[in-house]
Amino acid sequence: MKNQETFENVNPYENSPLSKKSQVIKLFNSISDAYDIVNKILFFGLHGVWRKKVAKILKRKKPIKILDIATGTGDLAIDLLETKAEEIIGIDISEDMLKIGQNKVNKRGLNDRIKIQIGDAENLDFKDNYFDAITCSFGVRNFDNLNKALNEINRTLKPNGTFVVLETSNPENFPFKQGHYMYIKYIVPFVGRLFSKDKYAYKYLSKSLTKFPSGIDFNNILDKIGFINIENRPQTFGATTIYVANKK
Ligand SMILES: C[S@@+](CC[C@H](N)C(=O)[O-])C[C@H]1O[C@@H](n2cnc3c(N)ncnc32)[C@H](O)[C@@H]1O
Repeated sequence: MKNQETFENVNPYENSPLSKKSQVIKLFNSISDAYDIVNKILFFGLHGVWRKKVAKILKRKKPIKILDIATGTGDLAIDLLETKAEEIIGIDISEDMLKIGQNKVNKRGLNDRIKIQIGDAENLDFKDNYFDAITCSFGVRNFDNLNKALNEINRTLKPNGTFVVLETSNPENFPFKQGHYMYIKYIVPFVGRLFSKDKYAYKYLSKSLTKFPSGIDFNNILDKIGFINIENRPQTFGATTIYVANKK
C-alpha cells in the first residue's frame, strides 16, 4: 500500500537543489502558454469531459462557496459555474498559469462570478469551515507536501462539505494497462517536448503519473486525513479517477 510516507514524491528536475514547490512553480510558469493546447492534443480533449463531470457531481450538492485548488489556466473554475455557486475562487502557485486563467475569465465577462488568485494549497488563506466544496483537478500529484495540503483542505471545508479530486491514474486491465503505459512513457514526453519550451516538463508528467498513488491507495490517504464517504470513480478505462469525499 502506498501512502504519503511511502510513495516516491517525484520532482520535476533531477538534481535540482530547489524544493519541489519551487520546481513546480518554475515548470508550470515555463509551460503555461502551451499547457491548454498540449493537453488537448495529448489527451484528445478528454480533460474537458472529465472536468465537466466534476462540475456535474457538485451541482447535485448545491454548493454556495467553492474553492478550486491548483486551478492553473482556470478551466475547472469556469466549468464550476454549472453548479450555480455564488462564490468560486481559483487559486494556484504559478502566476503564469493564473494569467491565462484570468484572461479567460475577463474575456467571458465572469469577473463577478470567479476570483482567480495566487494561493498555496499547503497554507490556505481562508477561515476554518468556510467552503461547501473544494475541487482539485490534476493538482494533488504536484503538491510538495500532500498531507499538509489535504489537512488544509479538510480544515477549510464545512462539516459535510465535499472534496472532489480529478487525477491521472493507471488502467489496470489488458490491453489498456499496456497501451496506456507505452503512451505515457514514450508519446507524452515526445509530443510535450515538441510544443513546450521545457524539455523536462512532460517527462515529469509521465514519471509522476506512474508513481502517484491511485484508486484504493489514494482513498486510504484521504481516510487517514479524516475524510469520510470516500469513493473513487475510474474514468475512461482508469486513465483518470474522480475521488469524492466529505469532511466529517
Ligand atoms: C497539471 S496543472 C492542473 C491545472 C488545472 N487544474 C487543470 O485541470 O488543467 C497543476 C497545477 O497545480 C499547481 N500547483 C502545484 N502545487 C500547488 C500548490 N501547493 N498550491 C496551489 N497550486 C499548486 C501548479 O502550479 C499547476 O498550475
